[in-house]
Amino acid sequence: MTPSAFITGITGQDGSYLTELLLDHGYQVHGLVRRTSTLSRSRLDRFYRDPSIYGQRLFLHYADLDDSTTLRRVLMKVTPDEIYHLAGQSHVGLSFEMPESTCEMTAMGTLRLLEIIRDLPKAPRLYHASSSEVFGQPDQMPQDEQTPFAPVNPYGVAKAFATRMVGVYRKTFGLFACNGIMFNHESPRRGENFVTRKICRAAAAIKLGRQTELVLGDTLAQRDWGHARDYVRGMWLALQPETPDDYVFATGQLHSVQEVVEIAFATVKLDWRPHVKQDPRLFRPSEPARLVGCAAKAKTLLNWEPQTSFVQLIVEMTEAELADKAPPDRSRPS
Ligand code: NAP
Ligand code: GDD
Repeated sequence: MTPSAFITGITGQDGSYLTELLLDHGYQVHGLVRRTSTLSRSRLDRFYRDPSIYGQRLFLHYADLDDSTTLRRVLMKVTPDEIYHLAGQSHVGLSFEMPESTCEMTAMGTLRLLEIIRDLPKAPRLYHASSSEVFGQPDQMPQDEQTPFAPVNPYGVAKAFATRMVGVYRKTFGLFACNGIMFNHESPRRGENFVTRKICRAAAAIKLGRQTELVLGDTLAQRDWGHARDYVRGMWLALQPETPDDYVFATGQLHSVQEVVEIAFATVKLDWRPHVKQDPRLFRPSEPARLVGCAAKAKTLLNWEPQTSFVQLIVEMTEAELADKAPPDRSRPS
């Protein structure tokens, strides 16, 4: 029988890579989409244009994370085997500007979804996209599944709530529900207001004479950056064992924003110094620190390992911008 999956956040970076992976694995894929004023869903374009996929093996359903009635109706109709819950306001910096809606969608939206799943006649397996932001400023380095949560921003607090709630529903109601605690993952499809895409895009634009400078916040900030393609493979693997569990997905290596700058500008053969500026207004009210993950459990139990190195990632992203292959994005640079 054809397996079926339902993806919230299908139009996002991870949603689009996961759709590709699941279609490749023979799944029928259903996605939740919000009503927007344009029909542009650039990351899914190639599937729209393929009549053998769109309407045959890929289906989109209108709903919203705060619209339980519609969400329930769609899930009753689709009865998926697996749900990948990726939707939410995913920008940490903006979560300081809109904490209420960030928590409403990310925290309460996840709880609403759990409540619906609990009532379904045959509960699907659930993957929840948790984040390294739950660790905030941890004492322990690297972080693993046992590291205490200490979030330092509204986004991290909302993810911590959702992550704990997934654990509670697994334990209390016996749901097959997993948290993937994911460290940063990027790609040419990354939203333009995340730092790696912003830098790679600017380096290419400066090379092509379309832009003269790049203004950044804290260039000393460090992250554990991997490729989104590797991380969606982890999502799928997390739902395949006999029992549900939580997994950290990470590369285990810390790099700075400054290193991203240097690799991106070297890729376009430019000196970064005359072009890159810092603006304190782009610094965040509080920054997490030492966020680097240990993915030993995912490696042992799921046979998961990242396959793209940090340098390969930044080079791929910059070259995609140079070739203008990266899809347009409407998000506001910040
Ligand atoms: P993304 O590109 O920003 O995509 C977010 C998705 O959520 C989009 O499809 C968006 O729809 C949808 N969405 C937002 N609010 C919604 C709502 N109220 N109702 C329905 N859909 C809504 O994010 P991503 O990088 O793919 O990340 C996927 C998930 O993993 C997110 O939950 C993120 O917080 C989490 N995560 C990401 C990373 C990372 O480094 N990428 C790391 C850890 C965790 P529209 O297209 O309509 O905006
Ligand atoms: N966005 C942005 N823009 N960040 C900048 C800039 C800038 O101009 N300059 C410096 N930074 C720094 C940020 O302060 C942060 O320390 C780091 O670059 C990474 O920022 P983002 O790319 O916005 O990602 P993030 O780490 O805050 O959040 C991403 O990763 C989380 C996992 O740890 C998002 O994908 C989250 O959804 C995800 O949970």
